[in-house]
Amino acid sequence: MKILILNGPNLNLLGKREPATYGTLSLEEINQRISVLAADLGAETYFRQSNHEGELIDLLHSAAADVDAVIFNPGAYTHYSYALRDAVKAIGIPTVEVHLSNIHAREDFRRNSVIAPVAVGQISGFGAAGYLMALRAMVELAPYWRKNV
Ligand code: DQA
Repeated sequence: MKILILNGPNLNLLGKREPATYGTLSLEEINQRISVLAADLGAETYFRQSNHEGELIDLLHSAAADVDAVIFNPGAYTHYSYALRDAVKAIGIPTVEVHLSNIHAREDFRRNSVIAPVAVGQISGFGAAGYLMALRAMVELAPYWRKNV
């Protein structure tokens, strides 16, 4: 099984960015942990990060041909990008939305996700472990997932 781990804007700064909220691990260190678990679970992982909405959309489109599932932290785009929501819906690949912080326990504007309604589910508030939970969930679920058209 092939899984894309896609991170959106400002997540390249993890480790340095607001560590009290997002933790002290860099994105590279998080990806390393994901790779170790993926090897254990027999999954192949691909890692991409972009600060640009259009590039994230292009990466989602390419994923449609290449992978079985997507683990996606859209960063602040979560809260307002209908274009990313449409892309997630369009590709028809099971996608899990992940947030390091608990977006429901922060500012009001973060409580709403426009992505969640088209995702398989949302994992929020478990720090880097959220990506590992999403990976386990996708390895379990993706083989049985049917596009809801
Ligand atoms: C985030 C939460 C978003 O609200 C924020 O804009 C981010 C990171 C998280 O992982 O907790 O950039 O997606």
